[in-house]
Amino acid sequence: MSGSTFGNIFQITTWGESHGSGIGVVVDGCPAGLSLSEADIQTYLDRRKPGASRYATQRKEADSVEILSGIFEGKTTGTPISMLVRNTSQRSADYSEIASYYRPGHADYTFDQKYGFRDYRGGGRSSGRETIGRVAAGAIAAKLLAALGITVTAYTQAIGAIELPNPQCPIDQLDLEEARKNPTGMPDKEASAKAEKYLEECMERLDSAGGVVACRVENLPAGIGEPVFEKLDANLAKAILSIGAVKAFEIGDGIRAASANGSTNNDSFRMNGAAVTKATNHAGGVLGGISDGSELVLRAYFKPTPSIFQQQETVNRDGEEITIQIKGRHDPVIVPRAVVVVEAMTAITVLDMLLQNMTARIDKIQQFYS
Ligand SMILES: Cc1cc2nc3c(=O)[nH]c(=O)nc-3n(C[C@H](O)[C@H](O)[C@H](O)COP(=O)(O)O)c2cc1C
Repeated sequence: MSGSTFGNIFQITTWGESHGSGIGVVVDGCPAGLSLSEADIQTYLDRRKPGASRYATQRKEADSVEILSGIFEGKTTGTPISMLVRNTSQRSADYSEIASYYRPGHADYTFDQKYGFRDYRGGGRSSGRETIGRVAAGAIAAKLLAALGITVTAYTQAIGAIELPNPQCPIDQLDLEEARKNPTGMPDKEASAKAEKYLEECMERLDSAGGVVACRVENLPAGIGEPVFEKLDANLAKAILSIGAVKAFEIGDGIRAASANGSTNNDSFRMNGAAVTKATNHAGGVLGGISDGSELVLRAYFKPTPSIFQQQETVNRDGEEITIQIKGRHDPVIVPRAVVVVEAMTAITVLDMLLQNMTARIDKIQQFYS
């Protein structure tokens, strides 16, 4: 069981290593008839591309996608869609030393314990490059969701202790255009400038920083998610925690709910004309594992980049304690490049659960087949 597959109906299988010849994904269960081009996928991949800013790894890769199957005359055929991105900037020599020791904060030790052998070049399967397949698949999921009027938007909420001034504000008060232009992914020019200053300080100290990515889903209908083991929030948690370097997941108020009281945490139901709405959204759009029709709000908490250029203590494969200094090209902060990864995993999960929900009611099944 290598666990490289995610989803039940809209199913993705990512494959490839950071320093192999290529990396990619097979998407199975995509409905036929969706207009899809390599340009649709490339727009998403360009948002996670290395070398795009001073705070992203200086590894320069085109990350150009090739669609190998599942499309005919510009439309999905309903058959598996295979996508490939060739690795073009491998400098495996940077990693030759790593073969003999375990980098702190990385998966070197655990891979060795598990397999007794590992592709040490750039972390192999545990590399951030694995997320290329997720982002390519996420681009398809987002396009399908858009066809249903559902949008998924992620952005940086915090880098280190620098946070957006009002993280809970309505989405239309966020400067999302700013978030796409600046190197932090924060939808606020001033907060971004402060975060950039903090990152410069980290880099001077040969250190790294962590942060928070927020993601919101608009226009998701009520009723999506299964009530026990396939809860919408449980599947989102798995999707987000499966991204490298994510250490915590929150839905709605998340950990703040634990210190609230029922009187402040409960969202009152109200009528908006004939429609049921909620006066507040502490729940983040999910009740009992099922979407409640309000905005879905989640957050992913990232640890600081484990590869830092300071000297560190570790052990080698012979059991000797040693001092190391990592070389290579690494992001001083993972968060800005991970924004689109969070967006992709959210889109994939929400779409998969929307498709699963189609079997929930006999009247809807009758409607479909009549
Ligand atoms: C988009 C993305 C890019 C990443 N880039 C780097 C990097 O340049 N350097 C690094 O040390 N870790 C990077 N990581 C994180 C490591 O892959 C991850 O921390 C490591 O495999 C250990 O896994 P864990 O932190 O989930 O326990 C990146 C992760 C993601 C999602």
